[in-house]
Amino acid sequence: MPPRTAEYPRPNHTILHLSDTRLLGGTDRRRLFDRVDSESKLRQIVERMDASGVDPQAIVFTGDLSELGEPDAYAQLRDIIDPFAERLGAAVVFVPGERDSRAEFRTGLLGQLPSDEPIDRATFVDGLRIITLDTSVPGSHHGELAHSQLDWLSDELLTPAPYGTIIAMHHPPMPCLFDLHTTSELRGQADLARVLAGSDVRSIIAGHVQFSTTATFAGIPVSVSSATCYSQDLTAPAGSHRWVDSGQSCNLISVYDDTIMHTVVPLAVGPVISWVSAEESSRLVELDDMLIEESAVAAARSAERASRPVTIWDVANT
Ligand SMILES: [Fe+2]
Repeated sequence: MPPRTAEYPRPNHTILHLSDTRLLGGTDRRRLFDRVDSESKLRQIVERMDASGVDPQAIVFTGDLSELGEPDAYAQLRDIIDPFAERLGAAVVFVPGERDSRAEFRTGLLGQLPSDEPIDRATFVDGLRIITLDTSVPGSHHGELAHSQLDWLSDELLTPAPYGTIIAMHHPPMPCLFDLHTTSELRGQADLARVLAGSDVRSIIAGHVQFSTTATFAGIPVSVSSATCYSQDLTAPAGSHRWVDSGQSCNLISVYDDTIMHTVVPLAVGPVISWVSAEESSRLVELDDMLIEESAVAAARSAERASRPVTIWDVANT
């Protein structure tokens, strides 16, 4: 009997999505609220993902990457992520949030001259377009997109990408679970919805609220990653807010021909209660006569990765 083919092949693209790293500069290991070592939390998450053998084509950070916009914080971020990304040949995509300094962000993460203009970019990774939108408003906590940014986005989306587009932004376009969050929500969402209508945008990823959540916006899935530094306790008494040194996570995004899967990966792991090795897993799949097809994109990448870097080119809106 021929093997049964699994319902889906391997994904065309895998993306690691992290958010709200909120790194502090300086050499004295300052802590958020005098408690949370945000650098250590990020290092732990990256080390765990590295050890897992995950092989993303891109690593995307959706804003509030520094707590105070300090140059040292951006240097820390590069120090943590660059060796991991370089080893994998993964593109690294940075999105600013309201806690970032556009000038220092440009200098420290993009290698550009300092400027306070919004940072919107398009990055292509093996045919998948990742568009970053700068929703930050210097001096404010809420998010907004200027008309010039929406015009740029509209022009960019005129040409569809081979595998479609993911938009990465800090302030998520979705309702607020908490009343207090309306003070820092993304404003003018109807204007963004108009630009996205009929486009090739397949997913919107964001951060800002410090918990994992999903919604749809203009019919497009929205996936918010919790923070890597700490999270909001969703069991706090109604109307109150409590932030806790737990619940840190990142998201894995798996891009298929006709769907995109967003998976939350918590930092904390409890005691192991059972275990199947990779070899045993392969043996069981084979024993069941199950065939999982490789995606053409992933197969081409693994065949060529030793001899070429990932195809990346940037179109900066500056
Ligand atoms: Fe934020």
